Amino acid sequence: MMKKLSIAAVTALTLSTGGAMAAGAEGHVHDVDFSFEGPFGKFDQNQLQRGLQIYTEVCSACHGLRYVPLRTLSDEGGPHLPEDQMRAYAEQNFEVFDPELDDTRPARPTDHFPMSNLENAPDLSLMAKARAGFHGPEGTGINQLVKGMGGPEYIVSLLTGYTGEEKEEAGVTLYENTAFPGGWISMAPPLAGEDVEFADGHSNELHHEAEDLAAFLMWTAEPKLMARKHAGLTGVIFLTLLSVLLYLTNKRIWAPVKGKCHKAG
Ligand code: HEC
Repeated sequence: MMKKLSIAAVTALTLSTGGAMAAGAEGHVHDVDFSFEGPFGKFDQNQLQRGLQIYTEVCSACHGLRYVPLRTLSDEGGPHLPEDQMRAYAEQNFEVFDPELDDTRPARPTDHFPMSNLENAPDLSLMAKARAGFHGPEGTGINQLVKGMGGPEYIVSLLTGYTGEEKEEAGVTLYENTAFPGGWISMAPPLAGEDVEFADGHSNELHHEAEDLAAFLMWTAEPKLMARKHAGLTGVIFLTLLSVLLYLTNKRIWAPVKGKCHKAG
């Protein structure tokens, strides 16, 4: 009895210190309610389109998305741009080098987004899955079980986490950021709010822009998320039905035998 009690106490303690730790060296990441979370979660097509717009107008100056084929912008479950818009988007925004022409030409749907322009700016295709926003307590990952991995939350927290402090180190300007591990990042604050105008008139406040962008990067990292959830759910329903049927069949098959045993006993 005593032992059980003390285990509960220790768990409670580590849970609370886990929260405190997250605010320290790990960087602070806050939870965000995204439309794609939970077993029934779906990407919000309009939000993905807004995220695409911010990426194109702001982030693509430095960051690439080289694992993402441009044609997937038309996929259902993604930004779902009409075919002709996607084609025009590719042509108007990106140029690729074509070895056959030995020259550059406007991008086509079959091309991928370009690579990063800036050598030390990481490619963002898989960033939302490469970072975890929630850790602990004590590396157990219980926080991730409850809130998810937190990749998109990390991106939101990073984009909104600049304090305004700067410093020079070995000729590099570093910017203080409460979400970045270590607290100082070499990326200048890319968003300030009101950086883009949305055609649908949606709010362009900093935290809305950051959330739209994070949702878009979640889609680039896991474009089949909705299909995966759907398949998982179908599987669970199917297995539940199967279990019920097997249970009933089993009962039926053994009914005569069990009936006898009962009489004998
Ligand atoms: C002027 C160039 C530039 C622009 C514009 C820019 N970034 Fe960056 N970004 C960088 C550099 C450089 C780094 C590497 C920073 C470091 O590791 O200190 C970086 C790093 C990152 C990281 C990785 C942080 C980590 O955990 O390692 C993310 C995420 C990111 N940028 C997102 C964005 C988003 C989203 C936008 C658009 C809103 C954007 N960036 C715009 C230059 C840029």
